[in-house]
Amino acid sequence: MTTHFSYPSLDLQDKLKQTAEAIVAPGKGILAVDEANDAIGKLLATVGLQNTENNRRRYRQLLFTADDALSDNISATILFDETVYQKTDDGTPFIELLKKKNIIPGIKVDRDTVPLFLSEDEVTTQGLDDLAKRCAEYKKQGCRFAKWRAPLKIGEHTPSVQAIQDTAQVLARYAAICQSEGLVPIVEPDILLDGDHDIVRAQKVTEVVLAAVYKALSDHHVFLEGTLLKPNMVTPGQGCSKRSSTEEIAKATVTALLRGVPAAVPGITFLSGGQSEEEATQNLNAINRVNMKKPWMLTFSYGRALQASVWKTWAGKDEYVKKAQQELLKRAKANGLAALGKYDGTISTAASDKSNYSKEHKY
Ligand code: 13P
Repeated sequence: MTTHFSYPSLDLQDKLKQTAEAIVAPGKGILAVDEANDAIGKLLATVGLQNTENNRRRYRQLLFTADDALSDNISATILFDETVYQKTDDGTPFIELLKKKNIIPGIKVDRDTVPLFLSEDEVTTQGLDDLAKRCAEYKKQGCRFAKWRAPLKIGEHTPSVQAIQDTAQVLARYAAICQSEGLVPIVEPDILLDGDHDIVRAQKVTEVVLAAVYKALSDHHVFLEGTLLKPNMVTPGQGCSKRSSTEEIAKATVTALLRGVPAAVPGITFLSGGQSEEEATQNLNAINRVNMKKPWMLTFSYGRALQASVWKTWAGKDEYVKKAQQELLKRAKANGLAALGKYDGTISTAASDKSNYSKEHKY
């Protein structure tokens, strides 16, 4: 391997860094609404609606037309391909609306998973082949960052060396391609909540995975200041009988991150992974309060933990749109406070205590 290489041009470095830093501005985080059509179809079914393009658009319109106060706590949102091209009822492109609200649009670019041959029932993510072309198109449409989720599961023999190495290489290649097209890559190695492992095992696996990911990013000359990490928090598996306190989760999470994530990375934007809305908020708050070194911003990039109460309140009915938007604002506010370590536990919403876990959850 050569050690002779160039960094991106200074102009590109500046732009990537500025975008990454704006996404993790104090008290702000990401609203992740990049569910693929099958995933949002399941949610639409819970409110009695068919999985049509218009119903998917109506739901996302509800989110994006919430009061401008949303951008007090939401800096950016992750879209799915079709959402990039959709418009509100009055014909305003979603991307224009988001920009006007000072919310940075981003795009999910992974194309889901396929089995890794001869592995322990593990997967690899797809989508690298035409990625540069797709990134260029999304950039033209106004997106400024991308996300790629690579799931790994903890079992007796997993994650395997094969899956860890594959994940690291694919994420690094993805990140390099995004940067070459001017998009900030959000790197998401998602170690699933599935399993009965305890928090100690979860911490060690997280450390090993992060070490592999950052070695690969270095090998691919990825400009770290222009990236963000979207990891799992370190928690016991869903089936583990020994539960951990928010303080234990905060300590294990920050310890694993300190051991694996270079200080050059501007921010860490956690996924919620099936935690309830309130758990995800409380854990983020504890992470920001724990008395340890924290060289990066620590905030949220939640899907389920920002939307569960919205779905419950909306119930698929136009007359509940306003009420559902209020729920979104409340959760965004709670998480914005948690990103500052200032959440006092007093914001409750319609589904705040409901677990959002589902086995081998798909996006
Ligand atoms: P959850 O917060 O629902 O785990 O979402 C994570 C994600 O990757 C969405 O972009």
